[in-house]
Amino acid sequence: MSTIILSGATGSIGGEIAAQIAATASVSRLVLLVRDLERGAALASKIQRGPGQIELEKVDLADAADVAACGARLARKYPQVDALVNNAAVVPDKRIITRDGHELQWQVNVLSYFMLMQSLLPSLAASKGVGRVVNVASDYAGDLDLADVDWSRRRRYNSNSAYRSTKEANRRLSWEARSRGFGVAGVAVVALMPGVVTSTLLQGLGMRRGFDSAAKAGAGPAWLATEARLEPVGSSSSSSSSSSSFSSSFYYHGQQASKCQWDNAQESKSNARLWEMLDAAAAPYLAAEAAKAGEVEGATGAVAGAIAGNTGATDAGELR
Ligand SMILES: NC(=O)c1ccc[n+]([C@@H]2O[C@H](COP(=O)([O-])OP(=O)(O)OC[C@H]3O[C@@H](n4cnc5c(N)ncnc54)[C@H](OP(=O)(O)O)[C@@H]3O)[C@@H](O)[C@H]2O)c1
Repeated sequence: MSTIILSGATGSIGGEIAAQIAATASVSRLVLLVRDLERGAALASKIQRGPGQIELEKVDLADAADVAACGARLARKYPQVDALVNNAAVVPDKRIITRDGHELQWQVNVLSYFMLMQSLLPSLAASKGVGRVVNVASDYAGDLDLADVDWSRRRRYNSNSAYRSTKEANRRLSWEARSRGFGVAGVAVVALMPGVVTSTLLQGLGMRRGFDSAAKAGAGPAWLATEARLEPVGSSSSSSSSSSSFSSSFYYHGQQASKCQWDNAQESKSNARLWEMLDAAAAPYLAAEAAKAGEVEGATGAVAGAIAGNTGATDAGELR
């Protein structure tokens, strides 16, 4: 049973990633994370071809509590997941602050990627030697200022620069994941540039048309999620010791591996800082979900204990 989870399937590139994954014989379940179930269902019926099931999960990636709840639900429903493809992204025309207090692009394009990765780590690790995260990033990346990721303090907001900073963060967090829990668990994390495709997002960046087809752009992520032989880091040690096997296949252009690495001390420090910031931002929401799960387990345990206690003291007739 091979399960793949994908966000942003209702978009241009995501629709093609979904169609290509759905057509892959080895995939038995594709879970689409969508914010509009009707559009998700329309897409699912359009791309459903093989015997694999397509399932939908509703989530608003701009709402951290909703993302944490979705991640917890997914982890419970799917104890083994082969791939998480973080593909959803947004480019608004002005600075929007979410109810969680983050700039919208930072929350949807970066924080939600991180939160889904964290929530699904145990399920990805359970898919031994196969589990992977594919973060859809871009070559259009840079302008990351870790002292002001929400564009509230140091710079005048510019939606293109804000977008570039999120795509830079996608690459850096993918790299950093190698020396975090993902490395320890043997889960590969890669980032890629899919191509330049006409989409709502591209238009938000001020480009009317792309020059790649969505089918071509979808092929890289679909291949990375299903067929690519990715080497898990398999080590909790520093970037330098784990990079030898992995650095050459960390960042992709479509199906072509290219180098994108931050092996010097300064960059490693920035990447670690990014990870810690995301961890701190995600922690209250993930902890709230963990506490809920603990309460349910506790309550279930208490009921089971009460029943067990009753069973000892009464006969079956009294339990009815
Ligand atoms: N297009 C390009 O040329 C290009 C180039 C390089 C990299 N990329 C990357 O490729 C990925 C896909 O981009 P695209 O061009 O295909 O974008 P797109 O067509 O605009 O699709 C964006 C997707 O993200 C979803 N989304 C946005 N905000 C969301 C939210 N709050 N909750 C849930 N889902 C949300 C959208 O859902 P709705 O349908 O509900 O809005 C849609 O499915 C992005 O990561 C982007 O950075 C694109």
